[in-house]
Amino acid sequence: GKKIGVVTGGGDCPGLNAVIRAIVKAGDMQGFTTIGIRGGFDGLLTPVQAAPLSVRDMDGLLIRGGTILGTANSGKFSSKTGQGETRKIPENLMTQVRQTIEALGLNALVVIGGDGTLTTALQMHESGLPVIGVPKTIDNDLDATQQTFGFDTAVACAVDALDRLHSTAQSHNRVMVLEVMGRYAGWIAAYAGLAGGADVILIPEIKFNMPSIEKKIRAREATGKLFTIVIVAEGAKLDDSMVVSDNDETDREVRLGGIGYAIAEKIQEKTGKESRCVVLGHLQRGGQPTHWDRQLCTRFGVQAVHMAASRNFGKMVALKPSGMMGSVNLKDAVNRIRSVDPDGELILTARTLGICFGDEI
Ligand code: F6P
Repeated sequence: GKKIGVVTGGGDCPGLNAVIRAIVKAGDMQGFTTIGIRGGFDGLLTPVQAAPLSVRDMDGLLIRGGTILGTANSGKFSSKTGQGETRKIPENLMTQVRQTIEALGLNALVVIGGDGTLTTALQMHESGLPVIGVPKTIDNDLDATQQTFGFDTAVACAVDALDRLHSTAQSHNRVMVLEVMGRYAGWIAAYAGLAGGADVILIPEIKFNMPSIEKKIRAREATGKLFTIVIVAEGAKLDDSMVVSDNDETDREVRLGGIGYAIAEKIQEKTGKESRCVVLGHLQRGGQPTHWDRQLCTRFGVQAVHMAASRNFGKMVALKPSGMMGSVNLKDAVNRIRSVDPDGELILTARTLGICFGDEI
């Protein structure tokens, strides 16, 4: 019979299992057996990492975090260098993958991943393999789809954290800094900041300086609001012209990661207000997907099966601006990061509310 292989790559993400479930169930309806590949792309080097997934195996998976297949975001199949340049996957590895796919008798290979994983998938397609991509990342930074799955769940987690930080900030008249994920794009920080009532939102797309933040905190104090909530994306950047301290070490820290802690420390130093930092980290990637992600994952999975059935390869499933499922060529989907538009409606709305982005001065 016909077979679809499924592999997950890159970091884990809420909803991976929901996509796998949708593929297995819809595949079953269309006469496909789904073969799960374990351990990311490395699992394609030999057929032993592959096993059929039955509809019964999918019980409970719609809501389960992580991926039952396991994943890896580094190693032989990394298609991106640390500098973000594309790296070609060696021909001998591609040959091994082709042999595995032939040995397993796969008619299609569904690759679920973010930009790096999909870049590898594109190279597999270009070497003649029947590949279909599904866009996964909590960062929501792929331009070819209106949304990636996992994002909504990550935002929900960050909003929950902001809600909790509000009550403790208020009780102690403190400044609370929440650091969220987002190396290249500030989607999580921007959406969560808006939904969770943050006073300051710092994102990679808008360089910030400390005096603007200080001014915001003092302005709040002048109106009797003695606490402040700051949300910062891990990739947020300090204004280059800015000297943050007389101390080179602190400058370095602010620039080179652990940014939330450095900002909290700096705020305390400048304003005299007690400040604390929480790094939300991988909590954003764990646990049950939200209802929004569950339906998005289910639709992505079913769309991937439709594409396998019609042998529509070298494409990525996508949520179109119309709100409908569709697809785009993988080559038009990879290497296209979608950033938050600093002059777009989302940011302007926040600014209209008085939210500070750290660039006011
Ligand atoms: O791309 C997803 C993501 O969670 C980013 O937001 C974050 O920068 C990165 O992965 C963390 O990677 P790791 O799990 O390898 O530390």
